[in-house]
Amino acid sequence: MPKIVIAGGTGFVGQYLSKKFQHLGYQVILIGRKEGNIRWTDLMGISTALENAEMLINLAGKSVNCRYTTSNKAKIFSSRTETTSILGRAIKHCDHPPVLWLNASTATIYRHAEDRPMTESSGEIGTGFSVEVAKKWEKTFFDFNLTQTRQIALRMAIVLGTEGGVIQSFKNLVRFGLGGIQGNGKQYFSWIHIEDLFQIILFLQKHAEINGVINCAAPNPIMNRIFMETFRHIMHRKIGLPSPKWLLEIGALLIGTETELLLKSRWVIPERLTELGFTFQFPTITNALSDILAGR
Ligand SMILES: NC(=O)c1ccc[n+]([C@@H]2O[C@H](COP(=O)([O-])OP(=O)(O)OC[C@H]3O[C@@H](n4cnc5c(N)ncnc54)[C@H](OP(=O)(O)O)[C@@H]3O)[C@@H](O)[C@H]2O)c1
Repeated sequence: MPKIVIAGGTGFVGQYLSKKFQHLGYQVILIGRKEGNIRWTDLMGISTALENAEMLINLAGKSVNCRYTTSNKAKIFSSRTETTSILGRAIKHCDHPPVLWLNASTATIYRHAEDRPMTESSGEIGTGFSVEVAKKWEKTFFDFNLTQTRQIALRMAIVLGTEGGVIQSFKNLVRFGLGGIQGNGKQYFSWIHIEDLFQIILFLQKHAEINGVINCAAPNPIMNRIFMETFRHIMHRKIGLPSPKWLLEIGALLIGTETELLLKSRWVIPERLTELGFTFQFPTITNALSDILAGR
């Protein structure tokens, strides 16, 4: 049976990918902190799991949906860089290392952009805490410079799916009449349907010539104003009160999160995937939300 190893595979993205790969007939082995998974402290166990694996996908990282306190910041950093480092070292112990290693990264690595889209070739790296995390995460990953394992960092935009992520929070806002614009509504929202993320992974597996960084974002990012309008339309809600920045700041404090997650303008385009001929099943936000919100 072909084998895939997923680290941090018990979360939103990992559970979806695990199910999909199992349906394709793969044995899926998980590395993580939960009972029954191979533990991060077990370097030899991780190496053994990685022997002859077709692919390693690393998704591990403390959620960024929290206040950026000193302690949370340290955990956000270390839960990404240390896990990546353990995996790289484990691969080096393998006699037959995995063919492909996909490491999660984030489209947040690019700067706040309201003027032009960011691509892998012409995008500018931003500044600030979450950008520093992404930079260090990718550096830890690419510093391994492996000869027998192809390495790709997935710069993922906000992943949309039914079983987790941001959708439930937006649904609640829209349902209670609070689904208007956030901030001035002009910030870009780059997103990807979780099924397209899975299809991208299959595409990258098939194309042995691809390595480096890949923007995993739908080709049609939209402004927050359009995102909220589409959401309201699909949920048949005419009214959506706007949330100005000051209100979001109070709200974020109360629920223990940061406004950056809503207000940073992420305008990211999947230039490499498009050039390589990848076809998105959900290229527009209307396609994606109609599918995700159908019957719910
Ligand atoms: N979802 C998105 O929109 C999005 C967008 C861009 C990038 N990403 C990145 O993609 C990855 C997967 O996203 P997701 O939405 O599936 O995240 P998630 O649901 O929060 O899952 C992440 C997994 O990381 C592991 N983890 C959490 N805290 C950890 C810690 N302190 N130390 C070690 N492992 C820890 C957990 O696995 P165990 O409990 O099994 O250890 C958890 O299931 C994350 O790294 C995220 O930053 C996500």
